[in-house]
Amino acid sequence: MKKYPDLSGKTILVTGATDGIGKELSRMFAHTGANLILHGRNAERLANTLQEIKAETDNQNIQTIKADFASLTQVRTMAEELRQKVDHLDILVNNAGVYPQAKVITEDGFEQTLQVNYISPFMLTLSLISLCGGKKPSKIINLSSIGHRFVWANIDDPKGRFFWRWVSYCHSKLLIIPFTRELAERYCCSNITVNCIHPGIIRTKLIRMLPVTWGVSTHHGATTVFNLATNPKFEDVTGEYLEEFKIVRPSPIARSKRLQASLWRISLRWAGFTKGKASITPVSLLSRNDQ
Ligand SMILES: NC(=O)c1ccc[n+]([C@@H]2O[C@H](COP(=O)([O-])OP(=O)(O)OC[C@H]3O[C@@H](n4cnc5c(N)ncnc54)[C@H](OP(=O)(O)O)[C@@H]3O)[C@@H](O)[C@H]2O)c1
Repeated sequence: MKKYPDLSGKTILVTGATDGIGKELSRMFAHTGANLILHGRNAERLANTLQEIKAETDNQNIQTIKADFASLTQVRTMAEELRQKVDHLDILVNNAGVYPQAKVITEDGFEQTLQVNYISPFMLTLSLISLCGGKKPSKIINLSSIGHRFVWANIDDPKGRFFWRWVSYCHSKLLIIPFTRELAERYCCSNITVNCIHPGIIRTKLIRMLPVTWGVSTHHGATTVFNLATNPKFEDVTGEYLEEFKIVRPSPIARSKRLQASLWRISLRWAGFTKGKASITPVSLLSRNDQ
């Protein structure tokens, strides 16, 4: 039996492909024969990852793209480059993420964890939405975390005045859920599914920063995401949150419709899509209330 499905002809973008779950997931996607785009923030790590995966899988249809998610300018440039290079995105995995060592305010004026783990994936996804759906289906998968269950939402503190690294991390992963649900609702008729997933507690460099000492392999973590991306049973599933292989109910605050609506509005502002700051406003996404 073949270990990997044949995804040749499909285009897949994995963010944060230079380490941990994203790197292992990219390796798995490379085995499917898909056209793969590996994202990373560091040119040397990207080049090494590209070389390693090409050599190991024999897939030569792999490209790289570089952007530091702590810079909205770099995310905007990344999206522009992709829109020039790619006609259709079959799978987008928003995997890049950081667990902060300390409080850092980015050049855009946001607390770094919020920006890297939430605002930049939000911005990238909306900037690439024109490459998704239509005649061919697209799947968007966002990496959340079971840690979302331990925190409450506070979208009034984007500069991290009350910064606590564990809470800031979990909070960024909480916001991924209402974002996923809102995007899924907005695109329910556009041949786009949007889901989010906690991949398990996985031994990566990120977890080494967390106050836990256990964890399973990156292969296990990557398999949960690969399963969501390729298992036919998830083909029409949208707006859901998975813990590893199962759809489960996220926390009550993650399901709050009020949070979902206000988060959407404020995220458009944070990402520069409203108030005339951006040149790439995805107008189709904006309702009158957003503007
Ligand atoms: N590990 C777990 O137990 C666990 C549990 C729940 C959810 N998750 C989520 O799974 C995802 C992957 O985490 P992981 O455990 O595989 O972590 P990881 O090994 O640290 O990998 C994170 C990836 O994100 C990239 N990245 C970090 N900061 C970035 C930035 N400023 N701009 C662009 N890329 C950046 C990293 O690039 P470099 O290679 O340059 O560092 C790396 O490629 C994250 O979203 C995380 O929150 C992980």
